[in-house]
Amino acid sequence: MKSAIRGTTRIAGVMGWPVKHSRSPQLHGYWLDQYGIDGAYVPLPVEPEKIATALRALPALGFAGANLTVPHKTLALSLVDRVAPVARRAGAVNTVIVASDGTLEGRNTDAFGFLAALQQSAPDWKAERPVTIIGAGGASRAVIVALIDAGVSEIRVTNRTRARAEALAELAPGLRVLDWDKRHAALEGAGLLVNTTTLGMGGQPPLDLDLKALPADAVVNDIVYSPLETTLLAAARTRGNPVVDGLGMLLHQGRPAFHAFFGIDPAVTPALRTHVLGT
Ligand code: ATR
Repeated sequence: MKSAIRGTTRIAGVMGWPVKHSRSPQLHGYWLDQYGIDGAYVPLPVEPEKIATALRALPALGFAGANLTVPHKTLALSLVDRVAPVARRAGAVNTVIVASDGTLEGRNTDAFGFLAALQQSAPDWKAERPVTIIGAGGASRAVIVALIDAGVSEIRVTNRTRARAEALAELAPGLRVLDWDKRHAALEGAGLLVNTTTLGMGGQPPLDLDLKALPADAVVNDIVYSPLETTLLAAARTRGNPVVDGLGMLLHQGRPAFHAFFGIDPAVTPALRTHVLGT
């Protein structure tokens, strides 16, 4: 049953431009209902030039905090009072918490979300073997931070624009950059392959990647979640590799934010997946 909004209701939301495609209201709304919390989570359409004003309004309006989505995640680093170390390393803030003294703390929960989803969907995955990452955008940075913190020592990155992959080298001494046209060979001996590009998303071309060199037991993780089964995941499944789709990361990244806003670490369940996919 949907809980009513009252004078006591704790409020949080998501700022984006546009924000109407965000799944966060459905995600947090489901958990609020599930746990019977006196809370509300609202979409906040905030134009890029108004993000500083909007963030400063959060404590004034009594908000518990807000999630940030495109295009606010990078700029917010310089707009909050404190940046948590993971957000600094990931180069993006996706969660802003209003502290009890009214100051703003910027966090990044994407790295947590990526690892939690991987561990839930591929419980046998181990950090010992090399990881190959396709792409070097914002999502790639968060994935690399997560993998370093999980203890991975060899990370190979290949990106169409090589310079962007080279810029990630500051994150880890064991990071190796490979040319885009060598991406097929970059799969040799890997225990995990992650696509962090937008290739394979609805409306985009598929990721052109020959899986021949990939070990049969390597986990294949695509962070694209629309469609849920990308061409990459379908090819991996056909050859017997364990696969992890992108919806898990989306759902798990919401957990630390929900906990900070509403005080409960919520569960990611099959029913939640169906709910978020169907709305
Ligand atoms: P995000 O923050 O979601 O990671 P992004 O920063 O725009 O988004 O990064 C998109 C990623 O997809 C990049 O790695 C990008 O490669 P470039 O750095 O060369 O742009 C990759 N990508 C997007 N379209 C691509 C295409 N047609 N071929 C190869 N890579 C592509």
